[in-house]
Amino acid sequence: MGRRPDHAAPEPAWDAEALRTPHAQPDKADRVEDMFDAIAPTYERVNTLASFGRDAVWRRRAVAAADVRPGDVVLDICCGTGDMLRTFATHAPQASRLIGVDFAAQMLARGNFNGHAVPIDVIRADALQLPLADASADVITCAFGVRNFHDLQAGLNEMARVARPGAHVVILEFVTPANALLRWAHTFYSRTILRGVAALVSRDRSGAYDYLPRSIQTFDTAESMLRRLSTAGFADTTVRTMNLGGVAIYRGTRTPLPDREGSGESRAAANQESQQLPGKDR
Ligand SMILES: C[S@@+](CC[C@H](N)C(=O)[O-])C[C@H]1O[C@@H](n2cnc3c(N)ncnc32)[C@H](O)[C@@H]1O
Repeated sequence: MGRRPDHAAPEPAWDAEALRTPHAQPDKADRVEDMFDAIAPTYERVNTLASFGRDAVWRRRAVAAADVRPGDVVLDICCGTGDMLRTFATHAPQASRLIGVDFAAQMLARGNFNGHAVPIDVIRADALQLPLADASADVITCAFGVRNFHDLQAGLNEMARVARPGAHVVILEFVTPANALLRWAHTFYSRTILRGVAALVSRDRSGAYDYLPRSIQTFDTAESMLRRLSTAGFADTTVRTMNLGGVAIYRGTRTPLPDREGSGESRAAANQESQQLPGKDR
């Protein structure tokens, strides 16, 4: 995992050349993993300071949009240090189980996953190859993760695979505002406040806070995301934007699978299988 062995001399995950087309880099997954491992110690602090605390509000809204039903199994993909999972743990009605997946070991190591009202299981794995059975989750969320996938459609398809029919998917992600003035404001913010906070707090050398605005600028539009969710097998898709059009919550419902509709067996089998997974490496 990652591009370089542990303890190797640090080198930036993102340089100017790679940042021209961040989503087209053949080793994007390794770059992303290295980058998050590098910024893990200050990740949450930079988010809070650079967003003026708004990131917690966006996550709370995403959790509310997930519309958890009592006893649901919630899967949070790209869980990082666990902000979404902890928000779910305090949310009513309560899920029966929270599962977090992420491939960056340092992000998981910095997370606080124990002692919450709902048990949290964490799995280190690639979101594009989830070690979970088909139709095993009732709610699937991903906050600020899908932009980092090395194959966006494959990642959404994988979410649909593990979603049981009727499951809710909620994706929280940055988006480029449609309005030119707001686009300018976002660029200005990235170059000044975001870079300033990151330089002071994170002292990052991985290029993470250059990758962040660039990966947003070159990412899918909201319309394209909605089309991709439909292609993956989610219906009733909606998008709600916040933060002057710069943050989006996408929502959809897993359409029934013809060969599984009406069967509770797959869900029970999946729960049994995923019980054995926490702690397993990818
Ligand atoms: C911006 S952080 C978001 C963390 C958390 N969801 C939050 O809201 O703070 C993105 C996370 O996605 C993870 N990630 C990106 N691509 C991934 C992939 N293909 N498989 C697993 N995790 C991935 C990164 O390791 C990182 O922890």
